[in-house]
Amino acid sequence: MRRTDTLRGLVRETELSPAHLIQPAFVVAGEGVREEVPSMPGIERFSINNLVEEAGEIAAAGIGALMLFGIPAMKDEFGTGAYDDEGVVQMAVRALKEAHPDLIVITDVCLCEYTSHGHCGVIRDGTEVDNDVTVELLAKTAISHAEAGADVVAPSDMMDGRIGSIRFQLDEEGHPGVPIIAYSAKYASAFYGPFRDAAESTPKSGDRRGYQMDPANAAEAVREAELDLDEGADMLMVKPALPYLDVVRRVKEATGAPVAAYHVSGEYSMLKAAAASGWIDERAAVVEALTSIRRAGADAIVTYYAKEAAAWLR
Ligand code: PBG
Repeated sequence: MRRTDTLRGLVRETELSPAHLIQPAFVVAGEGVREEVPSMPGIERFSINNLVEEAGEIAAAGIGALMLFGIPAMKDEFGTGAYDDEGVVQMAVRALKEAHPDLIVITDVCLCEYTSHGHCGVIRDGTEVDNDVTVELLAKTAISHAEAGADVVAPSDMMDGRIGSIRFQLDEEGHPGVPIIAYSAKYASAFYGPFRDAAESTPKSGDRRGYQMDPANAAEAVREAELDLDEGADMLMVKPALPYLDVVRRVKEATGAPVAAYHVSGEYSMLKAAAASGWIDERAAVVEALTSIRRAGADAIVTYYAKEAAAWLR
């Protein structure tokens, strides 16, 4: 059954199409900005007007959704830019939904791009992130995204109890229809390096191991996923993707819930670098990597390759 392409097509178990892909995008304050991220060839940071144009191409490519990350003009200790109704993400969401009403816009809910210290929450006693104070600010952020018109919110902070709090407050504030993609199993990974360049979110001191997961654990990921479902998550995220395919599989099998996997910046940049050196066939390697993530059990894949892969898959 492997002899010809048509025969292989008859028995192929895994399907990969643009509709399964989510394109992350970085939006910056200002106008007319379009700057390449040096560590992520092919990925640019856009100001709102340019992002709206880019989003038109993403929608036309049949990609499932756009996931938005904001880089504010100013950062402070409490990450106030994250829950400012006139913040860069809130304004971008309004512009995107007006220009492309059918394109699904998912917003990243986290404080790390907005805090001066670069951690995902408010710092207490100079060292630790204060979980409960942070959860309140995350809920505030999610509500301001929903008010702006976000279709889905995706908290990526890894604080305890944030899904329940965000769900409760979204419902209270009149947004019961906005689903939550919970980053349930987000690992303290070295593969986020290029993203932190792009989002200017490298912690000024310390690291994220106090709140993100230990790469050595998988049973814990299943527990985190179950907690998030209990608190009202609609979809679960595992991140990164390729080094954690076993976790994708376990979370999918244990919960049966919709699962997304985040093919992160480091995974993207490694492929780009190897391709640029002529060491791998980029197109074949990317399609194989994305197919493998689907085969492991992911329904959707967040990947910086979404736009390029969509063109290849057509
Ligand atoms: C944090 C966040 C991170 C990524 C997405 N959201 C990075 C981090 O925890 O430092 C990483 C994504 C990537 O590497 O592509 N809000």
